[in-house]
Amino acid sequence: MDEHTSTYQPKSAFERWLDARLPIVRFSADLMEFPTPRNLNYWWTFGAILAFCLAVQIVTGVVLAMHYDASGAGAFLSVQRSIMRDVNYGWLVRSIHANGASMFFLAVYIHIARGMYYGSYKAPREVLWLLGCVIYILMMATAFMGYVLPWGQMSFWGAKVITSLLGAFPVIGDPITKLLWGGFAVDSPTLNRFFSLHYLLPFIIAAVVGLHIWALHVPGNNNPTGVNVKSKTDTVPFHPYYTVKDLFAVSVFMIVFALFIFYLPDAFEKVDNNVEANPLVTPAHIVPEWYLLPFYAILRAIPDKLTGVLALAAALGSLFALPWIDTSKVRSKRYRPMARNYWLVWVLAVLVLGWCGSQEPDGHVFPGGAGPVFIDYGINTVTWLSRIAAIYYFVWFWAITPLLGFFEKTLPVPDSLATPVLSHPATVPAGAAAAPQTKG
Ligand code: HEM
Repeated sequence: MDEHTSTYQPKSAFERWLDARLPIVRFSADLMEFPTPRNLNYWWTFGAILAFCLAVQIVTGVVLAMHYDASGAGAFLSVQRSIMRDVNYGWLVRSIHANGASMFFLAVYIHIARGMYYGSYKAPREVLWLLGCVIYILMMATAFMGYVLPWGQMSFWGAKVITSLLGAFPVIGDPITKLLWGGFAVDSPTLNRFFSLHYLLPFIIAAVVGLHIWALHVPGNNNPTGVNVKSKTDTVPFHPYYTVKDLFAVSVFMIVFALFIFYLPDAFEKVDNNVEANPLVTPAHIVPEWYLLPFYAILRAIPDKLTGVLALAAALGSLFALPWIDTSKVRSKRYRPMARNYWLVWVLAVLVLGWCGSQEPDGHVFPGGAGPVFIDYGINTVTWLSRIAAIYYFVWFWAITPLLGFFEKTLPVPDSLATPVLSHPATVPAGAAAAPQTKG
């Protein structure tokens, strides 16, 4: 919080000397003392979980890079033979890194959903939100380029499909695509460029995370009520209260992570990617990783390539604009039942888009007893389902969200963040009256 003043007192002569030159100990002590709302729930532990994921990806990525060969001729074997078979524990480092990407996205989607539900993007946290959106885009770029590196069939064809999208832009599209490819097709120079950028971007993400946390420390955390912190008694020091809670959440997350690493290492892997890239053989079904599927479905829902790319960009751009689109004075959707319901349908639309993105473009495929049952309704079910879900995706952003702020009926907002806790039956002694709630 901005009014927070440092209480750090250097103890030794050395600490005083250092503090006058580089107050790094004061800085860390201030972070630990940071006044944090006392009512944060477990959804607020995902920031720490994400920081953990980023560190894991960087450490395992640096180790993998020691044994990786970023050339068209050697990449596939360096992964499948050297790393997976020859290097001591190479299989483990790769499994952590590959599954870590999915865990990172799982955590980021929960973190974003938390921010949307509790209105953490609203003033005065707009810059914090924008920096989060930048991180998300950088994460997608990093993950996409990382997926190309094993140089399997899906790596190659995924790279071809996605980079070719840039060609849809008139005039600049073609030269940009060739610059990215390093030639006239996806080939060894493309792989080299992607490796270089894939190594660089996580460090840029780390720098933007630094800004993200700085932007968090100016207004301080939001909280489940969305009500501003009003007094010192509304907060507790970050350490030990939230360091311990975050550590516990990270430990539980590590157990789930470990289940994938050791028991389901290929759960997110496409089998085609264990076959070396072959520019002459197109796989029957090119699908990106699960975390990109909703956007892939939006892209495919529109027949015109350029319009599809623009819709994809608009889908991401809408996320950036959210703080200004939402006109409601109430932050938390706890007190906005209508907004909550429309938002839950939006989450459903994103899931439907994700499912559509994983299906054959003209698929009429529904799961049946003994295997997929093909139901031909005479219409392209997957494409139409994607279109309906994509329309709702945009209508929620650009019509429902701005209008609700004017027309919805909100529930009474507590006057302090402590009120809902103190008025809870479990905390009120028998016979005592519950604290009154006033509309804010
Ligand atoms: C590497 C990725 C990220 C890391 C390491 C990270 C880290 C953090 C941390 C440590 C916090 C404070 C603890 C918490 O509220 O959970 C936080 C808060 C926040 N983050 Fe992120 N974040 C990341 C990505 C994102 C993204 C993609 C968005 C949104 C698009 C976002 C939006 C927010 C918001 C709005 C808050 C404030 C929450 C509140 O106080 O209510 N973050 N982040």
